[in-house]
Amino acid sequence: MRDFGIKITDIIKSVLMSEREFLHEPRFNDEEVKNLKKCIESTFVSTVGQYVNQFENEIATYTKSKRAIAVVNGTSALHVALKLSGVGEGEEVICPALTFVATANAISYLNAIPHFVDCNEKTLGIDPLSLGNWLDKNCEKIAGNLINKNTGRKISAIVPMHTFGHPSEIIQIIDIAKNFGIPVVEDAAESLGSFYHGRHTGTFGDFGVLSFNGNKIITTGGGGVILTNDINLANKAKHITSTAKLSHRWRYIHDQVGYNYRMPNLNAALGCAQLKKIDDFCKSKRNLFFKYEDAFRNFNGISLFKEPPFSRSNYWLQTLILDRGLENELEKILEYTNDNGIMTRPAWDLLPNLKMFKECPKAPLPIAQSLSNRIINIPSSAYLV
Ligand SMILES: Cc1ncc(COP(=O)(O)O)c(C=O)c1O
Repeated sequence: MRDFGIKITDIIKSVLMSEREFLHEPRFNDEEVKNLKKCIESTFVSTVGQYVNQFENEIATYTKSKRAIAVVNGTSALHVALKLSGVGEGEEVICPALTFVATANAISYLNAIPHFVDCNEKTLGIDPLSLGNWLDKNCEKIAGNLINKNTGRKISAIVPMHTFGHPSEIIQIIDIAKNFGIPVVEDAAESLGSFYHGRHTGTFGDFGVLSFNGNKIITTGGGGVILTNDINLANKAKHITSTAKLSHRWRYIHDQVGYNYRMPNLNAALGCAQLKKIDDFCKSKRNLFFKYEDAFRNFNGISLFKEPPFSRSNYWLQTLILDRGLENELEKILEYTNDNGIMTRPAWDLLPNLKMFKECPKAPLPIAQSLSNRIINIPSSAYLV
């Protein structure tokens, strides 16, 4: 039955008053042009320049994180945050099965192994209850380390993720991580502008990570930030993302193998202009949610995902969820909407189903699997209405 696809397409077109829509487009005006022009005229377009410092300070102020270190993308931010959390070769890192591949890729860059856990329907993020039970049953403390009894490997960190901008139950997840003695790197790539109990996502864990890819709520073209309240770790992050170069007026002295991960000034110039609009973008996306909520209210078989309790979400990607039993409609809906001018996307395939992660340890994943078969992201750009 193609009814679902037709109805969804009609509703979205009527809400957006448009015949064609992308999933998420960046929004620019003179502010970005002015900053980019100034940056080009300064000739400081690369990894040194005043916009990088300004962007870092403004992100730190906005998120109320003690420090923010700007890097080339969210994936490199995750890589460095995990490294500085002490994740080593052959160790396991807990992460959601339902997330973008970058979360697990960053773990793999350290020759560590993702260990996938389930999420819940309330937040789309890691489910604290099933996480606690899984760790209780499958892990033990040996000589101060958390060991997976099934693999004998150390579990050295956890990476919760705030899905489509909606905060996961990060306080509860951090409590569990503390109980088991593992550090937390929050993958807040999608959740700039989202708060849990009034506190910005990405500032609860030992580290938080943001992304400014072109599809995110604000963009630097490509870019990311490492957030931390630990000044010592912040200094280390800044150092190793800048090729571990010691400060000297003319000598090239590097005290370890570092990474060329610093965000270029040109990207930061774009970011400074974009960040000024974050409140307007969040407001516009929230309004769009209310319009979709009205329009989909009486649509049997489909619900629009609403921010979880105790959260203020940035509503980065608007999300429809098919009722259980309607999984067979997913592909047909995606095909019809995309064929008819409305860009839609499913959730990611579960990461443990990808060939490079098939052998990785995993908890039972009934909710993540079910959600992955029922989620549809619909056009979500700011200022669409
Ligand atoms: C959940 C999640 N983690 C990590 C990333 C990686 O960010 P980037 O694309 O900036 O490397 C993204 C976004 O692309 C993401 O959605």
